[in-house]
Amino acid sequence: MTDYRTLKSELAALCPPSFDPTANLANAASLIFNSVDDINWAGFYILRGDRLVLGPFMGRPACVYIPIGKGVCGTSAEKGKPLIVQDVLSFRGHIACDSASRSEAVFPLSVSGRLFGVMDIDSTTPGRFSDEDARGLEEISVMIGKILEEGEHPDNDRGGES
Ligand code: SME
Repeated sequence: MTDYRTLKSELAALCPPSFDPTANLANAASLIFNSVDDINWAGFYILRGDRLVLGPFMGRPACVYIPIGKGVCGTSAEKGKPLIVQDVLSFRGHIACDSASRSEAVFPLSVSGRLFGVMDIDSTTPGRFSDEDARGLEEISVMIGKILEEGEHPDNDRGGES
């Protein structure tokens, strides 16, 4: 079982808002990938215009562009709501970046009240994500949104120290 409490404190320690946002997302992807059990992909897609673009991640190479409204990621982004898919084979329009993936959890990232992108977690196990995982991962996604939001502050433009 994943210890989300520890994961949240590690995230806070590893990713202060003053660090560069790309570096923070890269470390967040690595932290999640190495802390959440039984997953094969963890990472971010960033909103650029009317599509999501692949951001920092851990796992196999993934599709670079996802139109809003397409796939699990684009659907979550369009609705602005988390989407837990227990069997990706039964999700119409699922985009199979890694054919081994069987379940998927996607959480929109909100920064300053706007959609910034999504956090995407995949597993090769069908039904991998329990309510507890959904809650824990949603809390992580909210934390990441706040880290990015605080980092956006105009008087906090240090470009990533240390
Ligand atoms: N399966 C996702 C695409 C991204 S990869 O899983 C990393 C989707 O349907 O949106």
